[in-house]
Amino acid sequence: MSSRVFNPYDIRKDFPILDRVVRGRKLIYLDNAATSQKPKQVVAAIAKYYLWHNANVHRGLHLLSQEASQMYEEAHEYVARFINARSWEEIVFTYNVTEAINLVAFTWGMANVGPGDEILVTVMEHHSNMLPWRKLAKIRGARVVYVDVADSGELTYEEFEKLINRKTRVIAVTLMSNVLGTITADLVRRVAKLAHEYGAIVVVDGAQYVPHMPTDVRELGVDFLGFSSHKMLGPMGIGVLWGKREILEELEPFKTGGDTIKEVTLEGVVWHDLPWRFEAGTPNVGGAVGLKAAVEYLMKLGMDSVREHEKELVRYTFKRFNEELRDAVEVYGPKDPEARGGVIAFNVKELNHHTVGTALDMFGIAVRTGMHCAHPLHRRLGLAGSVRASYYVYNVKEEIDELVASLKTIIALRDKLKTGEVDERICTGT
Ligand SMILES: Cc1ncc(COP(=O)(O)O)c(C=O)c1O
Repeated sequence: MSSRVFNPYDIRKDFPILDRVVRGRKLIYLDNAATSQKPKQVVAAIAKYYLWHNANVHRGLHLLSQEASQMYEEAHEYVARFINARSWEEIVFTYNVTEAINLVAFTWGMANVGPGDEILVTVMEHHSNMLPWRKLAKIRGARVVYVDVADSGELTYEEFEKLINRKTRVIAVTLMSNVLGTITADLVRRVAKLAHEYGAIVVVDGAQYVPHMPTDVRELGVDFLGFSSHKMLGPMGIGVLWGKREILEELEPFKTGGDTIKEVTLEGVVWHDLPWRFEAGTPNVGGAVGLKAAVEYLMKLGMDSVREHEKELVRYTFKRFNEELRDAVEVYGPKDPEARGGVIAFNVKELNHHTVGTALDMFGIAVRTGMHCAHPLHRRLGLAGSVRASYYVYNVKEEIDELVASLKTIIALRDKLKTGEVDERICTGT
């Protein structure tokens, strides 16, 4: 298969894990929405940092500390460039996107949301962009108002328009659903304008969007964006909060302690400049170095090409599912590959999603099953769960063929599998 700019077969050479044999078959990794694999370049950058440069940052005058500090700051710069932030000082490193959203809820939210205020949260959100707002609302006596998702799996501007009012302080919305694949960026641009007319801020969850397509925070017009390194070829344990400088500057730290301050007396404290005010304690320098390497890797591929590659995989999946599985498989979310990313949630009729996931594992195919941390969305769709295949830069059409062939075997054995017992005999069609 060829992509416009990069060749996924070449890319695969950077990911030794893709050569692993699991359950006697070559691994097919389709669980990228949960976490991506890491290329050699990222692992090498982390190893090089720990083997040759390791020191604590911002504390020592010695050379190693200066090197580590510079590498840590450079990582902020690369991330800023990646999402077209005005300055690296708008980039706060967190533990993951979950922490990034909690940071906004419990700094901006605690200072600006009060009794009777409203927070609009879409039904499509991952729990990470829903539960922090619910907790904030409970503490502050505010109300969470839910923005419904249409049966097509899309959000509509009219729903936001209907619900927004002068009491609305925050709109929390994902840029791409981790279940339905729905891309909301065009809508979010309009919603941001609407929100600002009402004096509300917009907090977007970029966990499934930033790793997969070009992101420009200035052009989106939102106030905060969060995402996680581990879903974009980088290491676990580091995430990003981008916030508009003028808003971040008004905020007190989320967590306090070392590195958050300029000066402390027994009577008072002067908080540090951005972004250090929000990065309490010794940070994950190795993680930041790995994230920088991941960003370099993706920039070299070109985010437009990443998007094109995944769109092609989605198109191909729909084609093959339609040809081979049409009557037995139900796929959720928008049908137009332009309107969705490389996340495909589905169910095999009459079979439990866990049974299908366990059976696919026997074929060496890694997918996610369950509700994918989006219980309210599954309930809204009337689903007890789903199977989710999700793609990234190293996935190829032959893997989709394998997925389809394995699903065909599973469907042929459906009556046997209904008992829920799955073992390796399935691979022989028995
Ligand atoms: C849309 C979305 N938001 C938030 C998260 C949470 O990510 P993390 O666990 O890295 O904080 C995920 C991860 O699955 C996600 O898909």
